Amino acid sequence: MLIRTEDSASVADRAAVRAVVTAAFGRTDEADLVEQLRGSEHALTSLVAEADGQIIGHILFSRMWIDTTQRLVSAVALAPLAVLHEHQRKGIGSLLIRHGLELLRERGERIVIVLGHPDYYPRFGFSAEKAKPLQSPFPPEAFMAIELAAGALEGVSGAVVYPPAFGI
Ligand SMILES: CC(C)(COP(=O)(O)OP(=O)(O)OC[C@H]1O[C@@H](n2cnc3c(N)ncnc32)[C@H](O)[C@@H]1OP(=O)(O)O)[C@@H](O)C(=O)NCCC(=O)NCCS
Repeated sequence: MLIRTEDSASVADRAAVRAVVTAAFGRTDEADLVEQLRGSEHALTSLVAEADGQIIGHILFSRMWIDTTQRLVSAVALAPLAVLHEHQRKGIGSLLIRHGLELLRERGERIVIVLGHPDYYPRFGFSAEKAKPLQSPFPPEAFMAIELAAGALEGVSGAVVYPPAFGI
C-alpha cells in the first residue's frame, strides 16, 4: 500500500480517481467536484492510495476561507474522501487523512474543515465543538474542524466560504 500525490497531468491517474470516487459514492457528483477543483486554482493536495499498481482510494484538500468580516482566514476543506468498497475498513481512509493532514501541517496550513460522519472524523482530531463559531449551512454535528497549529481557531468566528466548485 502506497500513499502518493496524484499526478494531475496523468490521464491514467485522473481516470482512476474518477472511477474510485464514482464507485465509492455510487454517483458522479463527487467525481465531478474533484474534476472542477482540479481545474481551478483552489485544489491544494490530491492524494491516492495505490495497491499493486491500482488506485483504490483518493482524498482531496482544497482552499476555503472563514469570513470574520474583518478578514478572510485561510482554511482547508477536506472533500471528498473515497475508498473502493472492497478495500474499505482496512485503514486506507485513515492513512489518506493522516498523510494529508501531515503534509498540510508541514506546508504551514493551520485549519482543516470537513463535512462528514460524526463517528468517523473525531478519531483524527476533528471536532464539531471547534467548528461551532463557524457559520455553515450544514448540520452542526457533521461540521467539524481541526487545528493543525495550536490555537489557530481561537477568536476566529464567521461564515465559511467554499470555492465556487462546491456550489455552496
Ligand atoms: C468513508 C470511507 C472513505 C472510509 O474509508 P475506509 O478505508 O473504510 O476507512 P478506515 O478503514 O480508515 O476506517 C474504517 C472505520 O471507519 C468507519 N466508517 C467508515 N465509514 C463510515 C461512515 N460513513 N460513518 C461512520 N463510520 C464510518 C468504519 O465503521 C470503521 O470503523 P472501525 O474502525 O471502528 O470499525 C469509505 O467508507 C468510503 O469511501 N465511503 C463512501 C464515500 C464516503 O462516504 N466518503 C466520506 C464522505 S464524509
